[in-house]
Amino acid sequence: MKHLLLLLLFLGITFGRSHAQIEVIPYPQQVELSSGEYSLKNTPVYYTTEIEHEAQYLKKQLEKFQLKATLKKRKQEGKGISLQLDPNIQGKEAYRLIISPRSITIQASTPTGIFYGIQTLLQQIHSRKPEKTLNCCQISDTPRFGWRGYMLDESRHFFGKEKVKQLLDLMAWYKLNKFHWHLTDEPGWRIEIKKYPKLTTIGGRGNWSDPNCPDVNYYTQEDIREILQYAAERHVEVIPEIDMPGHATAANNAYPEYSGGGTPDHPDFTFNVGKEEVYSYLSDILREVAGLFPTKYMHIGGDEVAFGSKAWETDPHVQNLMKRENLKTVKDAERYFMYRITDTIKTINKTLIGWDELLELNMDPQTTVIMWWRHDRVNALKKALANRFQVILCPRRPLYFDFIQHSSHKWGRTWNGFCPIEDIYNFPDQGLSQWQIPVDQYPLIQGIQANLWTERVHNEKRLDFMTFPRICALAESGWTQASNKDLENFKNRLNNAYELFDQLGLYYFDTRNPEQHPEPAGPTRKKREIPMDFRD
Ligand code: ACM
Repeated sequence: MKHLLLLLLFLGITFGRSHAQIEVIPYPQQVELSSGEYSLKNTPVYYTTEIEHEAQYLKKQLEKFQLKATLKKRKQEGKGISLQLDPNIQGKEAYRLIISPRSITIQASTPTGIFYGIQTLLQQIHSRKPEKTLNCCQISDTPRFGWRGYMLDESRHFFGKEKVKQLLDLMAWYKLNKFHWHLTDEPGWRIEIKKYPKLTTIGGRGNWSDPNCPDVNYYTQEDIREILQYAAERHVEVIPEIDMPGHATAANNAYPEYSGGGTPDHPDFTFNVGKEEVYSYLSDILREVAGLFPTKYMHIGGDEVAFGSKAWETDPHVQNLMKRENLKTVKDAERYFMYRITDTIKTINKTLIGWDELLELNMDPQTTVIMWWRHDRVNALKKALANRFQVILCPRRPLYFDFIQHSSHKWGRTWNGFCPIEDIYNFPDQGLSQWQIPVDQYPLIQGIQANLWTERVHNEKRLDFMTFPRICALAESGWTQASNKDLENFKNRLNNAYELFDQLGLYYFDTRNPEQHPEPAGPTRKKREIPMDFRD
């Protein structure tokens, strides 16, 4: 008998505990499988008050898998799923998940960690649907990067509340935690500002493919609050972007008195940096936006101002400003504007984020976060890091999801290449070594983000096709340590993602068989026919 026990113990150690695979994306940092199974039938969920939201979320999700769950305040535990706050677990988003034949335990020091443990559990349940049992295992997990973002441009085309909620669901499923919402640009202004109602009633009219379309599309402040609540329940932080001083066309259609002009290709592209009223106007807007969004960040764009700032060379207000402040070039005027906006952001207690053009304006690294997007300007990234800016990596290649993902595709952007899922998976490590970024600067990199610009994305079918499954590679590159990444293994785990996308009715790009879901055509663009004086 004693020998038998020893033998079983031996077998348990050598065969029962192995580093075998579980069906989870992003892959956790430490996984140990052990022998035995947990049966999911009739599963109580034990919780404490601080994590009641997470317990309720879990119950709802279990019900979607036809699993009956009852919530019980944790006093004495029996068989079931136990959610436990444990201050000893290091890391705001870290968790431990233990599946044993008798119980499932999720431990974390924060509700967010508990939430991520729940996602890992749910993905395993999803992958084992028919059996209703789970293999026993012990998982210890914590993300590589704190910023794991996805940006949606709703100025070019507007998708609406339900689509955004579905994206938030899927972001949470893949442990992405920052939703960057690009709400203003040339074709449309999509966020209600009570003090300036024409921003939406006029600025919200039309879209990139049809500027003449009379439909007005925007989010009311009530819609925004509803989405923010939905995101918060999924531990996703929402960062609004109000782009300035360029990309301001829609706003200028609504309030032409604040326009700083543009060029024939980009008319009314800028705010007028020479008019004092513009600063109070923008400060009112930023204050209202700040009041809605609980995030500490405010994204103020700052990109591609040169598309329109030539007009400043002849604008009398900008010229006056330049004389008064002794500014030599329109770039100096842009810098003056950004310093003023930085002051506003400070007074509303937010941290400024902007695109990498801000590096040309000598901004303060203590108060500015840079999104590096111009992949062809590695020097901009190097400069940002050398100057000790916090940086979020979102280079066009490989992280712009409006770029095509397969050589047969025609409807997205390219730039000496495109953005296949493999390149996203290999990001950022290939780049960081190739660009010779000093290791001591790595901690300045807050994380990574994919950006979906929507000039060529005019419906949900195209949104899905450009986003899924690339978002899975983004999630694993954002969460999983480089040493735990394995492309072939990831591709196997994608099979479950495809099953999920099928269940949700998403039109995704099937990397296993590119012909399976042909590329949906992008939009054709109508010329603006409405005269600019439609504003009144
Ligand atoms: C950008 O793509 N203009 C940030």
